[in-house]
Amino acid sequence: MALVKQETLGIGFLGAGDISVLHAAAVKKAHGAKLVGLWNRGQDRAKQRAAEFGCKNYESPEALVKDPAIHAVFVLTNLESHLEYTKLALEHGKHVLVEKPVGATVEEIQTMKKLADAGGLVCMPGHNYVYESGMVRTKELVENGDLGKICSAYVMYNIHHPEEVASRYPGVVRQILTHHSYILLYLVGKPVELCAMKATLHYQTYTEEDIAMVQMRLENGALAHFCASFAADDHAADPWTVMVKVIGTAGSTRYSYRDHVEIKPGLVHSQTYTAYQGSITNEVRHFLIDCLRHGEQPLSTLDDAIVAQKLIEAAEKSIANKSIVAL
Ligand SMILES: NC(=O)c1ccc[n+]([C@@H]2O[C@H](COP(=O)([O-])OP(=O)(O)OC[C@H]3O[C@@H](n4cnc5c(N)ncnc54)[C@H](O)[C@@H]3O)[C@@H](O)[C@H]2O)c1
Repeated sequence: MALVKQETLGIGFLGAGDISVLHAAAVKKAHGAKLVGLWNRGQDRAKQRAAEFGCKNYESPEALVKDPAIHAVFVLTNLESHLEYTKLALEHGKHVLVEKPVGATVEEIQTMKKLADAGGLVCMPGHNYVYESGMVRTKELVENGDLGKICSAYVMYNIHHPEEVASRYPGVVRQILTHHSYILLYLVGKPVELCAMKATLHYQTYTEEDIAMVQMRLENGALAHFCASFAADDHAADPWTVMVKVIGTAGSTRYSYRDHVEIKPGLVHSQTYTAYQGSITNEVRHFLIDCLRHGEQPLSTLDDAIVAQKLIEAAEKSIANKSIVAL
């Protein structure tokens, strides 16, 4: 892979929605990197965000990817257009960070991988949670055998999303269980079979699910459980806002969004969970500095995104057929 040697590592954003605000703050903190410009489908939003971020507003995605001042492109549009823009950037020789879910199908992610490999380029999934130090430490403990035999893993998410926000996304199976899937793969390993259920509890007209749960048997024999809910916040003591637990015979770990909370509304959240911005800041730093400057691998790769997508598709199949699905 060709490392980026230029003094300033130029970044372009395709898409300037909510998540671009977190990525812009992260780029600002990455030494030697600069947000050169953005393109967004709607011009009002494009102009507003370009002014806010202090960068160019490109007239088209093509103009952005052709600019030699840009070395890496962040694909921050919605899921349905990830392949189109990732392909465009890779075909113009740019490294890519693509938001999750990376693709709508396994085949889409495989196409991205082929293009990236052929061009000697990094195409890194926006799998932000695994860049939190608590996650990295858990992985080290699991890999060292310090937790003994792993018995169970839990990934829990309970953050109320109003219908107008949720309806910009797919249901929670794709939108949120994608996070759970790559977290599980990173920390503990692959499932061999699963069963899933979903429900729609608080939307008036949007028909996608706002809650889903999955039970899994893992390759190492352990069992795992996922819960993803946009239906309600958890206000109880020690809430499962975002909670990850790995329990072994010789020890256990906990990661919680609730470790650092600011009493001000976040983008769609009722409070600001510092871990949300923090994980994206770490992810962007890893992409720009560790991968593009020093040739390291992403902590969660396109191969992981492919397995995560298989897990999501198996959960959808289990829901549709009311069955246990083998992976
Ligand atoms: N990592 C995370 O925790 C996290 C959190 C939120 C969103 N996301 C992901 O980030 C991406 C964007 O989410 P967001 O919250 O910024 O959404 P958003 O609705 O605020 O913004 C999406 C942007 O994409 C543009 N867009 C939509 N369809 C398009 C198309 N067909 N072609 C070109 N542009 C199009 C819209 O104009 C908008 O500017 C999604 O893939 C989402 O899953 C990730």
